[in-house]
Amino acid sequence: MSNKKIIIAVDGYSSSGKSSMARALASAIGYRYIDSGAMYRAVTLWAMRHGLVDSGEVASQSLIKSLPEIRIDFRPNPDGSQSTMLDGEDVEAEIRQMEVSNNVSQVAVIPEVRHRLVALQQEFGREKGIVMDGRDIGTTVFPNAEMKVFVNASPQTRAERRFKELADKGVATTYEEVLDNVMKRDHIDETREESPLRRADDAVVLDNSQMSVEEQNRWLMSLYNSIADAD
Ligand code: DC
Repeated sequence: MSNKKIIIAVDGYSSSGKSSMARALASAIGYRYIDSGAMYRAVTLWAMRHGLVDSGEVASQSLIKSLPEIRIDFRPNPDGSQSTMLDGEDVEAEIRQMEVSNNVSQVAVIPEVRHRLVALQQEFGREKGIVMDGRDIGTTVFPNAEMKVFVNASPQTRAERRFKELADKGVATTYEEVLDNVMKRDHIDETREESPLRRADDAVVLDNSQMSVEEQNRWLMSLYNSIADAD
């Protein structure tokens, strides 16, 4: 197998399981994992904390002005997990709350926010050896990525998974609320003008509705092996 480091882009719908797959692959092959959605969530949390979000409306001009001062990074934890850092503070738990999920699409449609985060994401990938998941990684962030995957599953399957995840974390919500949030986010992600969610022409599609986590991980690893071997 070649030792040449590559860029791996894993895109797909919210709660499609792409983050778990991407994280597992990165850890198995010794690559850095970057959750680009966490970066949009962190900017959203910053906007909420600064009173720039009111009933789902984002004060975009004020947010755009503040973008240069918002610092986002990732810090590895001793247990192998990773925390999203906002201005030096660990906000990993807070950015997963429903309130952030309900506002993040409105922040992610702002072109200036996207430009800033895309630039940061490209910086993370400068030395390759990276697995990044998101919506526009294979299309906009790394159009030349050596490996591109597009993950999908039915909205119901994704809402069930997300609901279980949130319940395990003790977040109070209902399946209906989660399904509603998943469908709304799909719609906004697919129809926004700047970098809408869409499969890159050269991405390999995976519908994992009927797959276990182990099956998905094996599928991704074998795709990686076939690409790395071919090199
Ligand atoms: O993957 P996630 O659900 O944590 O992503 C949160 C939101 O961020 C999602 O509604 C869409 C947006 N997003 C994006 O627009 N582009 C990305 N590369 C990643 C996420």
